[in-house]
Amino acid sequence: MTVLGTSSPARNLACRACGATYPLAAQHACFECFGPLEVAYDIDALKRVTREQIEAGPKNIWRYAGLLPAGQDEAARVTLNPGLTPLVRADNLAAELGITGGLWVKDDSANPTHSFKDRVVSVALTAAKALGFTRYACASTGNLANSVAAHAARAGVRSVVFVPYDLEPGKIITTAVYGGDLVAVEGSYDDVNRLCSELVETDEFEDTAFVNVNVRPFYAEGSKTLGYEVAEQLGWRIPAQVVIPMASGELLTKIDKAFEELVEIGLCEAPSEGWTVFGAQSAGCNPIALALHGDSKEITPQKPTGIAKSLNIGDPAAGLYAIESVRRTGGWMEYADDDEIRDGIRLLARTTGVFPETAGGVTTACLVKLVKSGRLDPTRETVVFNTGEGLKTLEAVAELVGPTHRVKPSLRAAREAGLLGPR
Ligand SMILES: Cc1ncc(COP(=O)(O)O)c(C=O)c1O
Ligand SMILES: [Zn+2]
Repeated sequence: MTVLGTSSPARNLACRACGATYPLAAQHACFECFGPLEVAYDIDALKRVTREQIEAGPKNIWRYAGLLPAGQDEAARVTLNPGLTPLVRADNLAAELGITGGLWVKDDSANPTHSFKDRVVSVALTAAKALGFTRYACASTGNLANSVAAHAARAGVRSVVFVPYDLEPGKIITTAVYGGDLVAVEGSYDDVNRLCSELVETDEFEDTAFVNVNVRPFYAEGSKTLGYEVAEQLGWRIPAQVVIPMASGELLTKIDKAFEELVEIGLCEAPSEGWTVFGAQSAGCNPIALALHGDSKEITPQKPTGIAKSLNIGDPAAGLYAIESVRRTGGWMEYADDDEIRDGIRLLARTTGVFPETAGGVTTACLVKLVKSGRLDPTRETVVFNTGEGLKTLEAVAELVGPTHRVKPSLRAAREAGLLGPR
């Protein structure tokens, strides 16, 4: 398979485990040790990127094209132009939790298909097109399927996305509507992922880019843009603390990598005591958090349960690297049960006007726990990542909220319902 173009600052793929290097092709595992591959950059090329260049760029992730492996040529992008989503000041939530150092919600539900996955898919499919693939695919817990199907529709390319059969209707419908093939697999996400790993090796799928399998190294880099954006939106300042939801753990490691790069190439200074990374999982699927809590060198795979289906990856590919980021920065991981997740959704909605999907409920619930346990320092600036949209998982709160009053259309009825004072 062909190698990516020369305008990319990416230099090669490198094994995260043993450091072996490979060309920039559609390969995701190391031939030497089976470790995951990651994009490595020409650091001098990255250092040529300036704040001014970025600020003059488009109002989406491509303003950071100089720091990404693909997408330097606008005409060659496969994209819905996601990114530059709101960074919302969360003063009411901060007051409720006693956070005095400043609290922000990075609201990535504002992306075109309403999750952060548009970032990773835009980068993965732009690389996939350059590498010659003519069909787009993924193994998904829901949001990735939405995004791949929509990107393929915009590009006029065939897609085939694979999901567990028991996803929320809001994830199935918002994928199926784009018209590609949607395969509901009778199994868990981990079963779906294994099936895709087998399909990708067949002749029939030789033309197919699975964004999170054979082009995974490029896909993963898209998450860096969340870190760049938060820093830019804070006035080129890296926040002292970040709270990030985890499924595979990839997003967390890439936000951390983005902050490291910003410091290394001179676009930002590190906060005086460095930044601290916190991870959030659900109690129904907490293999990464449990490994950290148990000080284990390995992650024990789980069979996920619970309402946070988008985070239900029982065998997380980047789990150990997420633990490494959290340990290195002095952070911690928490997990929240279904009731706490529902409370988290409502707390974020009630205090910020941002209605998150279950993943955002997980993150908000874990923020609360981290503050209560004293692991998160309330005097340091904190950013919480809302990665998905509440409208896609309405059933999570459908039975808990509704009209507070029901009245006939008359003043008398309004008074009787307590909406007007007594005369
Ligand atoms: C809404 C949402 N947030 C967070 C994640 C976690 O991403 P990662 O697998 O990179 O840890 C996912 C993954 O599917 C997701 O759908
Ligand atoms: Zn290796």
